[in-house]
Amino acid sequence: MQEKLVFATNNAHKITELRAILGKRRQIVSLEEIGCREEIPETSDTIEGNALQKARWVSQRFHCDCFADDTGLEVEALGGQPGVMSARYASINGRGEGHDASANSALLLEKLDGIENRKARFRTVIAAIIGGKEFLAEGIVNGSIATTPRGTDGFGYDPLFIPEGQSLTFAEMTSDEKNAISHRRRASEALLKILETNP
Ligand code: IMP
Repeated sequence: MQEKLVFATNNAHKITELRAILGKRRQIVSLEEIGCREEIPETSDTIEGNALQKARWVSQRFHCDCFADDTGLEVEALGGQPGVMSARYASINGRGEGHDASANSALLLEKLDGIENRKARFRTVIAAIIGGKEFLAEGIVNGSIATTPRGTDGFGYDPLFIPEGQSLTFAEMTSDEKNAISHRRRASEALLKILETNP
């Protein structure tokens, strides 16, 4: 029987994506499936810190092998912002409340108005705790920020992000096309390598 590996998320889309990549090695289990319904704190000022914080929180309470991910959109001309603040970019800048994807995108376009350098990257860090040992896996996709939102698929900043070597934004691609090259995909592949060397 496969050993369980808890993914510290309740995002069904992420669970499906990671099961497709890691499902042959480990049985991926959601927070809901282990009876965890609490909001996990994410208070670090780095992407790595947040991923580790979430994985440690689950490991300490449920005493199981687990992993957590955290992602940020890093824009070169903005010194790497919104980065770790990607989900709450607009609200922490006084534009509405909570996680508002269209307000985040509107603010990003405003900040880049008139700026020629549109280079950006999505960066995902996965923190895993396996047999009590901590591991970090990273996935990056380089690209650029479009001048107007395009496409209706995906979520978050997808309508603005054009991966390097492509003409479509992530939101104009099918989910299979996006998932084949995404930051999360690359971080998951790095996690798979960790699992293979630490069975
Ligand atoms: P999370 O750490 O995966 O929750 O991501 C933090 C924030 O980054 C999200 O709320 C989105 O705004 C943004 N984000 C993460 N992954 C993606 C993606 O694949 N496409 C677009 N935006 C993303």
